[in-house]
Amino acid sequence: MDSLRELFVEQLRDVYDAEGQLLKALPKMAKAASSSELQTAFKNHLEQTREHVDRLETIFTSLEEEPEGESCKGMAGLLAEGKEAIEADCEDDVKDAWLIAAAQRVEHYEIAAYGTVKSMASLLDEEEAANLLEETLNEEKETDQLLTEISEEVNSRAEGERSSDVSMKPMRRSSSTTSRSQSSRQSARSASKRKR
Ligand SMILES: [Fe+2]
Repeated sequence: MDSLRELFVEQLRDVYDAEGQLLKALPKMAKAASSSELQTAFKNHLEQTREHVDRLETIFTSLEEEPEGESCKGMAGLLAEGKEAIEADCEDDVKDAWLIAAAQRVEHYEIAAYGTVKSMASLLDEEEAANLLEETLNEEKETDQLLTEISEEVNSRAEGERSSDVSMKPMRRSSSTTSRSQSSRQSARSASKRKR
């Protein structure tokens, strides 16, 4: 490997393989989720992931390169951890929290990968590729943000908190833990507001 262009193509193949792995994992994650919001988020991201694959194929065609050739060990490792969440025998809310944790690691990994290839595309004057990669990058960021929002409810339920939502399960924790958990939830909310 002795040019940035070769490295760019190698990195694109890596992320193409990563997306392919994720395509197989997302339906299992949706099936394992109990929260309907989380199921919908996983199903929507499955549709988006198909588009991400299409965009990468468009880029390979314009570069006159083959998409196959790399296997993404990073995604394989993340999905192996995700499989633990899918197969976990635990309370529904805790399992949902675990699935979100695994999915956000995947999103952050993809955000890193797309940020890199997008920068390389710009440097190499591959403007069409840079634009397509940026679109995907933004969708990965939006998905990550959505998962953060869903986790606020799911994690509160997993903690056994009463929430403003009347459909919530009743409190399972003793009242002595309430003020501490409320303040940690508030700080999680304000942290997510700061991000927006
Ligand atoms: Fe993606």
